[in-house]
Amino acid sequence: MDLFEYQARDLFESYGVPVLQGLIADTPAEAEAAAAKIGGLVVVKAQVQVGGRGKAGGVKVAKNPEEARDRANDILGLDIKGHVVKRVMIAEGASIDKEFYFSVLLDRSNRTFLALCSVEGGMEIEQLAVERPEALAKIAVNALEGIDDAKALEIAKAGGFDDELAAKVAPVFVKLWNVFKNEDATLVEVNPLVLHTDGRILALDGKVTLDDNAEFRHEGREAVSIAKVDPLEAKAKELDLNYVKLEGQVGIIGNGAGLVMSTLDVVAYAGERHGGVRPANFLDIGGGASAEVMANGLGLILGDSDVKSVFVNVFGGITACDAVANGIVGALATLGDSATKPLVVRLDGNNVVEGRRILAEANHPLVTVVETMDEAADKAAELANR
Ligand SMILES: Nc1ncnc2c1ncn2[C@@H]1O[C@H](COP(=O)(O)OP(=O)(O)OP(=O)(O)O)[C@@H](O)[C@H]1O
Ligand SMILES: [Mg+2]
Repeated sequence: MDLFEYQARDLFESYGVPVLQGLIADTPAEAEAAAAKIGGLVVVKAQVQVGGRGKAGGVKVAKNPEEARDRANDILGLDIKGHVVKRVMIAEGASIDKEFYFSVLLDRSNRTFLALCSVEGGMEIEQLAVERPEALAKIAVNALEGIDDAKALEIAKAGGFDDELAAKVAPVFVKLWNVFKNEDATLVEVNPLVLHTDGRILALDGKVTLDDNAEFRHEGREAVSIAKVDPLEAKAKELDLNYVKLEGQVGIIGNGAGLVMSTLDVVAYAGERHGGVRPANFLDIGGGASAEVMANGLGLILGDSDVKSVFVNVFGGITACDAVANGIVGALATLGDSATKPLVVRLDGNNVVEGRRILAEANHPLVTVVETMDEAADKAAELANR
């Protein structure tokens, strides 16, 4: 699970990592009120889980609450690399002297943890990593030893900090390691970590990825992750469905993550011929597509007001096509009148003939059976564009 910046900020604060005030706002009016509460100069920051917000116009300074309202108005609704901004954080403004970079992450290929550190942080860090990789220190961190004071100093020195600055940032590195370890994170990144003109070290931006496999060790985490996501995603999680909400109009159901990913691609291509419609979601119902799972999946997608048509793309394997077809028929029967959008179904694989026969016999008015994936994508895109 990736945290939003404001969640990372709150987590950092609870571990004693120095951060500035930050309040969330979902409307320009809330942004104005938050800025008034914080007082002085603030920074309005898009809360999206994608990098490069600053360069995309998602981070703006505001001198007073009225300006904060206007900047929030600019940023809310902005599309940053396919992520539409629904929330901003109003952060206390910092007077920055220097910007640094620090992260600790899981290094799978070396079966260890890795700290990355550079005295040259900020928005150009990706460029730095490519052009002058030697300026970005990469220090392995032993899982059992972690980052203590001595290790933190070693990391800071390797990252190019002089003795005085290294001594100031090292305690923050230790605290960030505590976040990483105790929260079962796979990534804790601070960019920028800054030296304030008043001498303080502050984490001004945080990215945290928590290991979902460790969720059971953290009471209340599931509730946190559900509360903070899209309502449809929250519902999917309750139903134990592998679902990601996207911004398009063609609902997608498939079995197997790979098949669903390629379904998203073919629908996006087909959409170019049909008014630019795009996939509305990712939904992998997995191998055992029972009628109940199919009904849950269909119900979820039909409940998405953005969805105009649905593409069910199933390759029969262990669960054969006839079982899937029965699942679809059963799902439509369960949903009854609440099923209102056209369904394009493409079945292939194990027992496909029988599967298609079952759908033909059911002859449901909303269902169109199409033989190939490309044709089905085209049909679903066409229906979504009507
Ligand atoms: N509270 C703040 N006060 C002053 N300046 C800030 C503050 N927060 C961010 N900035 C400035 O804005 C720049 C971009 O902010 P931030 O790092 O949060 O976004 P980003 O790096 O563009 O986004 P991402 O980390 O998602 O790629 C920072 O490098 C810093 O110079
Ligand atoms: Mg940043």
